[in-house]
Amino acid sequence: GFIAGVAAAGRRASAAADAPTATVDVLFGTQTGNAEFLAGEVVAGARAHGLGGTATALDAVTPERLAAMSHVLVLASTYGEGEMPDNAGLFWESLQADTAPRLDGLRYAVLGLGDRGYDDFCQAAKLIDTRLEQLGATRLHDRVDCDVDFEEPAAAWTTAVLDRLTAETGTTTATATTASAASAPAARTRSPWNKRTPYPSRLLVNRLLSSPDSAKEIRHYEFDLGDSGITYQAGDALAVVPLNDDALVGALLDHLGAGGDEETARLLRAEREIRTPSKELIADLVERAPSSELAAVVAHGDRSDLESWLWGRDVLDLLRDAGPAAPGPAELLPLLRPLQARQYSISSSPLAHPDRIHLTVASVRYDTGGRTYAGVTSSYLADRVGEEAPVGVYLQPNASFGVPADDDTPMVMIGPGTGVAPFRGFLHERAARGAEGRNWLFFGDRHRATDFVYEDELAELRDSGVLTRLDLAFSRDQTEKVYVQTRMREQARELYAWLEDGAHVYVCGDASRMAKDVEAALLGVIAGQRGRGNADAAEYLADLRRAKRYVRDVY
Ligand code: 2AM
Repeated sequence: GFIAGVAAAGRRASAAADAPTATVDVLFGTQTGNAEFLAGEVVAGARAHGLGGTATALDAVTPERLAAMSHVLVLASTYGEGEMPDNAGLFWESLQADTAPRLDGLRYAVLGLGDRGYDDFCQAAKLIDTRLEQLGATRLHDRVDCDVDFEEPAAAWTTAVLDRLTAETGTTTATATTASAASAPAARTRSPWNKRTPYPSRLLVNRLLSSPDSAKEIRHYEFDLGDSGITYQAGDALAVVPLNDDALVGALLDHLGAGGDEETARLLRAEREIRTPSKELIADLVERAPSSELAAVVAHGDRSDLESWLWGRDVLDLLRDAGPAAPGPAELLPLLRPLQARQYSISSSPLAHPDRIHLTVASVRYDTGGRTYAGVTSSYLADRVGEEAPVGVYLQPNASFGVPADDDTPMVMIGPGTGVAPFRGFLHERAARGAEGRNWLFFGDRHRATDFVYEDELAELRDSGVLTRLDLAFSRDQTEKVYVQTRMREQARELYAWLEDGAHVYVCGDASRMAKDVEAALLGVIAGQRGRGNADAAEYLADLRRAKRYVRDVY
């Protein structure tokens, strides 16, 4: 409704001949594309309010440029442990510097996107909001921090901020206030499907890619796009709306003594996160059972003690541990987080597979303490989606992660494990386009014999000349660890030559360690080849980032 309403109002406004009287700069810092998408909606909304507006990535804005702006709306997501998203890191660095200019003439508002499940909720937005104020800028509106269900608070913030702006700038809002969201046709949405109304897709293929002997279970899935109208791009993600495991729901209901309660059963199956205990549940249990083990860890341990105690324990475990003091069904339900859709990097190209979306997913499973645990969505896909029952999906576009527009531009792709997913799509895309640019893939996993997913396909892409170079790092096939960054260092001269030839560098996969180590290796390669020290290498990499030639899809 938000998007359609804002866009429809925007069309009406642009049909009116009045030139915009004031301009708003909408700046976004995005990791998975949400903030970027919302920024586009805010610009459409601004136009509907008779304002001019443009959306720009934060990293493209220098402090000097910022100081020359009058009205700025910042939309920033946070990723990892309170980190700036990839296209806001340079902005944040320059804003923190002592040399940052005063911003006394600037009026601004900040919208944060985040996940309350993490400790540093909306940290990036908080930091930017505070720093802008320190530099003398004036808030138009209080910052709003959105949790995972961001659509409604984001829409409310947008409306409030734009109303404030139009009041300040004296712009006419007649077109906007008469626009009715309810009657507006869906427009500008890249697909009619979203979190609330996912497309019911059929899962056409569910195939084990890794060997049955592997410690890992990596699967290839193909989703039917049917008449959904979904059009995707290589590098986008697909969100999958899961259902919890009926066996686990049943065990929870039994434990709660709520066996016949159908509404509770429905909520636990389709609406609540029952795998990972929420902070709210933990706090509640500590209060109810102050002499429990959990309460002792919370009282005496630090964050990492609590994390390791919680590792492998789910909601049912915590309820059992709390004994008779545990909450009943009515008290428990509001303490559980809403069940979230999970996003996976698409591993196909629409040029090769216009009617299907492929995913490459590692199943999360382990046994501990006499129970078997499974990742909510990966086990749903692997075990519980049948031929008949549709799977709810929607597209999560990622505009900043895709093959270069120029078919001759070389690509360096670094994707160990399931990080290879988007690069399979990129290679299919380039093959289908007959693109002549060189392509270099760094891939690896534990063992060549069991974990070399898409081996035949990659061999074919090598033979046909699409894949120029394939460097493999199987970490556990020898005594010392060999990782993708080991190969990068070995190939330092060649890798730097590719950079100098204008290559785009892509990294996909684990954010917590791999992506950091790969970045360090890349910096090392640049420093070693240029021989001008670390600061020069950092600046070289920063230039790549600004030119969108170093982009990551990490999680
Ligand atoms: P490991 O499990 O043997 O440590 C995919 O998961 C591959 O990434 C595995 O081979 C895994 O190796 C490897 N990996 C683990 N940590 C890594 C890191 N910090 N950098 C790069 N690769 C890593």
